[in-house]
Order: sequence, then C-alpha cells, then structure tokens
Amino acid sequence: MTILPGLLDTEAIRKDFPILDRTVHDGKRIVYLDSAATSQKPRQVLDALNTYYERHNANVHRGVYTIAEEATALYEGARDKVAAFVNAPSRDEVIFTKNASESLNLVANMLGWADEPYRVDHDTEIVITEMEHHSNIVPWQLLSQRTGAKLKWFGLTDDGRLDLSNIEEIITEKTKVVSFVLVSNIMGTINPVEAIVRRAQEVGALVVIDASQAAPHMVLDVQALQADFVAFTGHKMCGPTGIGVLWGRQELLEDLPPFLGGGEMIETVSMHSSTYAPAPHKFEAGTPPIAQAVGLGAAVDYLSAIGMENIARHEHAITEYAVRRLQEVPDLRIIGPTTAEDRGATISFTLGDIHPHDVGQVLDEQGIAVRVGHHCARPVCLRYGIPATTRASFYLYSTPGEVDALVEGLEHVRNFFG
Ligand code: ALA
Repeated sequence: MTILPGLLDTEAIRKDFPILDRTVHDGKRIVYLDSAATSQKPRQVLDALNTYYERHNANVHRGVYTIAEEATALYEGARDKVAAFVNAPSRDEVIFTKNASESLNLVANMLGWADEPYRVDHDTEIVITEMEHHSNIVPWQLLSQRTGAKLKWFGLTDDGRLDLSNIEEIITEKTKVVSFVLVSNIMGTINPVEAIVRRAQEVGALVVIDASQAAPHMVLDVQALQADFVAFTGHKMCGPTGIGVLWGRQELLEDLPPFLGGGEMIETVSMHSSTYAPAPHKFEAGTPPIAQAVGLGAAVDYLSAIGMENIARHEHAITEYAVRRLQEVPDLRIIGPTTAEDRGATISFTLGDIHPHDVGQVLDEQGIAVRVGHHCARPVCLRYGIPATTRASFYLYSTPGEVDALVEGLEHVRNFFG
C-alpha cells in the first residue's frame, strides 16, 4: 500500500460513501475517478435528504403550520451554512439556483437588463478565457449577441495556463465584466485570481468567478477573492444534484434587476406592475430546490468537519503521485500542467492515438470510471489540436491504490490496442 504524507484517513472516509463498495462487471470493485463531473454522496447527506422528506416536507416561506416552519428553517439554515462556508459577509448574499450554469446565466442576464453603471451594451466589452466550461462561455455569447457588446478572451499557454501577457489589451476601459474559472474542469489548472482581479478593478469592471471545481476542493473565501460574483454547484461537493449557488456582493444584488419572475420574488403585485423582495429572494422565483438545499447544507457540514485545508492537502498528495505515475505510461500526454503546482486533482490526457472513448470503455471493463470527451470545454481541445481527452479526477475519498489501478488499467488499454 502506498502511503503519502498529507493523506486523509480514506479507510474511514470511504465507509461514509455506500456507492464506493459497488462492484461492476463480475465483481470488480468500482474505482471512481470522475468526481469533477459529480462527486459521490456520503451517508450523512443521503440521511439528511431522507429525513427532510420523511419528517419535514412542506413548501417554504408560506405555511403557518409546524412542518412548513420546519422546512423554512431547514432551507434558510442551509443558506447560513453555505454563507459561513464561503465566508460571505451576509447570508443575504447567497442565492440558491439549480446549478452553476444557472448561476452564471443569472449574472449575465442581470447585467443585460441592468441600468447604468452596470449595463452591458454595444459600446462595452465582456472578457472570458479560452479555458472556460461552456457554462461560462455560452451565456456571455448570448449576452454579446443580444447587446452588441464585444466578447474577448484570454488565450492559453502550451502548458495549460492562462496567457495573461496581453492583460492590458484584453481588459480595457471598455470592459464591463470579466468572468473566469478558478480551477479548470478539464486541465485542473488553478488560475491567478489576484492579477486578473487587480486589472479588472483598475478599469472598474465587475469580476465573476466560476468556482465549480474549487468549492469542493479548497478553502473558498469570497472576501479574499475580491470578486463581485462567485458561482458554484452542490453536486460536485458531496451535495445532491439540482442545487447551485450564486454569491454576489450585497450592494450589487440590491441594484441589479431580477431575471426570473414569479412567486416568492415579489413584495407586491398589481395588474400593472410589481415590486420585488430584497435579495436573495428577488432572485429565487418559484418553489426553490428545498430538499436539495438541505442536502447541500449537510454536505457543507460534512466537508467542514473534515476540514477544507485537510481535503486540499490530501488531493495535492494524490495529484503529485498521479501526475508522476501517469507520466511513466508510454505515449501518455498530459493536457495541462505536468507538475502538481497550482493545479487541482483533475488530470486530462491522451494515450497515443487511441481514441479516449476506447480508453474509457476498456477502463470501464476493469471497473474504472473516468470521463472521456471534450468535458464541456471544447475550445481547450481545439487549442491543443485534439478531439477529446480521457480525464481522471480525484476527491477526498481517492486513494493512491486507485491511481495505481488507473496506471495498470492504461497498460491494459495499450496492450489491448497493440
Ligand atoms: N462540468 C462537469 C464536468 O466537467 C459536468 O465533467
């Protein structure tokens, strides 16, 4: 058994995740290396979901009866937990959405309908990067098409990092908003937030950070980031699907218009016009994802009890080991940083000219679950001249033994395809 400094007690942690005991293909124990797509869920989160539905299920903010008040307290309690988890100055800055995509679409639409000084129009510019997930590209393309604003982006260096050499040409006096990913979902690159935020602040542009691959893996402090909006999703951080978060600075949330209209987001409604509830409710039209928020609250409790610093240390150790071991596999090319510095535990690679779908299929036959394809970050594949990658991503329950299983699995793939 390989022992690395900084590892968590995975033997104990894995007992919390019932699915990790599953076998596939005639008794092969599952080796789950796709946590960047979605993490597995600990029993504590599954229990919280069950208890919510078995004991407290009712609609929130409406009922005067006991279980409706309990449901409201649980839903709003989850908001408190998330606010503390990201060090938000106020719980009212935490908006629950369906996922990170919805969070990012919400910001783009707030800005599209905003008045000055936030308004994005034909005389302004939007800045993103070539490293974005489609969810941080398409909403800005839509906004650019609707308003006439120019869409610009930072390119990538050969080693999978943002090329900021032309930062002053990309972020200019015309830039209204800069939106970028903190940790790449395809290459694992951790981006230099400070340099980008400093330049954005110089020109008075708003900063939006996609923290979907950061929130599950490291301490996320929205005040330290100095961004205006931070988006992430619950299902990658041990929570259920169907719950995302948009954190936004309070004064912005007060000033910016809502996007979705409906119940719960209003103060008064007449047949001619309406006034809106204060944030966060202004941005949460309709019945919210109540059980999912409660599940996310339980996930936050779970991760906090282990400690985000400890989780980050564990993943760094696994990443260092995985990067080293993978580079021992002949013909394997890592797409992205080839050292463990400033990178997260998501590693994409190609294996000679074997198509990633074939790699994924042969690995699956051995019980190893990886993601293959362009990972909703197609511009990255185009940049490096490849149609797709195989991606292995690790989390708090991953072990060095699973890295070894992947490396052995890849040897098997190579033999299989000659
Ligand atoms: N965004 C998820 C991924 O990168 C689905 O796999």
